[in-house]
Amino acid sequence: MNKKNIVLVLVLIISLSNITSQSIPVYLDEYKRIDERIEDALSRMTLEEKTAMIHAQSKFSTPGCPRLGIPELWMSDGPHGVRMEFEWDTWKHAMWTNDSCVAFPALTCLAATFNPELAHEYGKALGAEARFRKKDVILGPGINIYRTPLNGRNFEYMGEDPYLASVMVVPYIQGVQTNGVAACLKHFALNNQEKWRGHINVEVSDRALHEIYLPAFKAGVQEGKVWSVMGAYNRFRGQFTTHHELLTKKILKEDWSFDGVLMSDWGSTHDTREAALNGLDMEMGTRTDGLHYSEKNAYANYYLAQPYLNMIRSGELPESSLDEKVRRVLKLNFRTNMDRNRPYGSFVTEEHFDVARRVAEEGVVLLKNQQNFFPIPVGKYKKILVVGDNADRSLTVAGGSSELKVKKEISPLQGLIEKYGNENVIFTRGYTTGKSKWNPSVPDTNKSDSLRQQAVALAKEADVVLFIGGLNKNYGQDSESNDRRGYNLSFGQDKLIEALLNENKNTGIIIISGNGVSMPWVNNAQAIIQSWYLGSEAGAALANIISGDVNPSGKLPFSIQKRLEDNPAHHFCALTYPGDSVNVHYKEDIFIGYRWHDTKKITPQFAFGHGLSYTNFQYGKIRTDKKTYQKDETVKLSFSLTNTGHTDGAEVVQVYVGQAGPSLPRPVKELKSFKKVFLKAGESKTVDMELSVKELAFYDDTQQAWVVESDRFTFYCASSSIDVRNTITLYIK
Ligand code: BGC
Repeated sequence: MNKKNIVLVLVLIISLSNITSQSIPVYLDEYKRIDERIEDALSRMTLEEKTAMIHAQSKFSTPGCPRLGIPELWMSDGPHGVRMEFEWDTWKHAMWTNDSCVAFPALTCLAATFNPELAHEYGKALGAEARFRKKDVILGPGINIYRTPLNGRNFEYMGEDPYLASVMVVPYIQGVQTNGVAACLKHFALNNQEKWRGHINVEVSDRALHEIYLPAFKAGVQEGKVWSVMGAYNRFRGQFTTHHELLTKKILKEDWSFDGVLMSDWGSTHDTREAALNGLDMEMGTRTDGLHYSEKNAYANYYLAQPYLNMIRSGELPESSLDEKVRRVLKLNFRTNMDRNRPYGSFVTEEHFDVARRVAEEGVVLLKNQQNFFPIPVGKYKKILVVGDNADRSLTVAGGSSELKVKKEISPLQGLIEKYGNENVIFTRGYTTGKSKWNPSVPDTNKSDSLRQQAVALAKEADVVLFIGGLNKNYGQDSESNDRRGYNLSFGQDKLIEALLNENKNTGIIIISGNGVSMPWVNNAQAIIQSWYLGSEAGAALANIISGDVNPSGKLPFSIQKRLEDNPAHHFCALTYPGDSVNVHYKEDIFIGYRWHDTKKITPQFAFGHGLSYTNFQYGKIRTDKKTYQKDETVKLSFSLTNTGHTDGAEVVQVYVGQAGPSLPRPVKELKSFKKVFLKAGESKTVDMELSVKELAFYDDTQQAWVVESDRFTFYCASSSIDVRNTITLYIK
């Protein structure tokens, strides 16, 4: 090319780029910074358009700004799969034929894996499903802390320990958001019971708030960089949590610098002024209050709709409060459906089923295993009797908003038949529970005696009996908007289990639930498995564990108490749970779960962090790089871990730390680090763990700050919160 032509080409490029930059408005120009694009879009919008963006237009969407080409935002439940489609404005399933998803195991199971890498894979696969289904926000993860085993929604959450939940939630969020789909941390905050959730007022200390109930949210915001958060239904210190001066305005937005969208739970907004000024960015709901269907409660009359507009027009509320919300919603658009580079997602793929199966396999917890009852290798027995309703019941349906319509769900019975052969497996139900549905169901009691007798008669003849029961996501059985009514198993299951154990000693018990249950038969049973709502691959995963094709490595993400009264929320009086219908007082304060058991010297039935394997692990002596650390340093621990058995397996090594003489009461020890280590039979590895001294802080409510005190600290290397293998004493200066 000669000089003249080069000049011509250059002139052409410059004028073309001028034309493009002139014709593309700043908010659509992908070469511009997001902040600039947001300000530009905002400046083009009318007051009405801005208000429309911040409240629902249908059950699961907001309208965007059609005139400017800013798309609607679409949301879907829930934490462990992409929910089926709904009609625009009712809770009726829309009956589409292309919305059957992969059900991933519920989050108790994910927590029980103690495997953050798996949490990332889980989030990534779930986000891809959501993206393919054209969702911009997936309404999960749920990370409210397991305070009482009666909370109907614990199965959607990650257990009793704030550290475990924090470590597991971050990669989940990051995994989801790699798809250009927002995760939504819920329910912020203190929604630890379903009973009276719409109005109950939680009274809890600052210490418990910061040490127990907020850390997982904080990690999700600050480390996971979550793009959205959902408020909760309940009150805290007299004010609704969804638009709370301390929780949402001060802590979430100011202290933690959350830069995403705070949306309400469905119908959890109660006041325009508070919503406008305390940080709520988007109002969602089933009509305004989640209860009433009337003209008055139509979307246009939401607290953040016409009433807000009126108050801005009259000067009662500043327009700047609205602009701030719209900026955040626009940012969510730019992060999701206005990012042209986001992937397209994928749906019901083999890879997703594979993730679901691996999470299930790694999450199942072997609680007890005398005389090596498990594993049961293929070919060992000819007559395997399976008893129990959960063996062939769909456990992906029901439960409330996390219900799923699935492409495939392998039931435990199907998994066992596929593993051991149809000819070797007999099934009998043993008890009835009624249909899978949200409303109270009354099983047919006439039948239960005869079903039990039939099961016991068959047990007599069987080589081995596998009982598969537990809870089932019906009303009062692990389900949204209601709690369990008691700690016992329902539907006569305890009686049935006793009878089976008496008839045939060779009986193994498999409990499927999202909560701990009482086990009055525990001493009679030689083998117990704690399983979860495992999703699409439930039966395959469970059969792999039972047969020994997979060695169990799950650990309990909560303590299972012997009696309900051993749980601190049930130790004091009804005011600590469920409350007096107006207030609930968390009198146990920071001492929940194992923190309570350690302090009060109560032996749980099964401890937090407990879970057996088909092999054994030996822990070597702990070494550290020094004995005394400064407050800005990192403790480096190392010890050897040996698989001393004949089976490959994984151990979750847990490091708990306790302070010798704190100025405020502290738990005997708290989980501060963990690692899942895979070892071949006979293999030995050096395990290195690092723990920043900052992690040893407690929340001093008088100073309103996290404090590390100079003191002596004991580091416990443990296989569960009560199975301590080695300790070392270190000093912090
Ligand atoms: C639940 C939320 C859920 C929402 C939308 C509410 O009742 O509490 O967790 O995301 O409904 O289904």
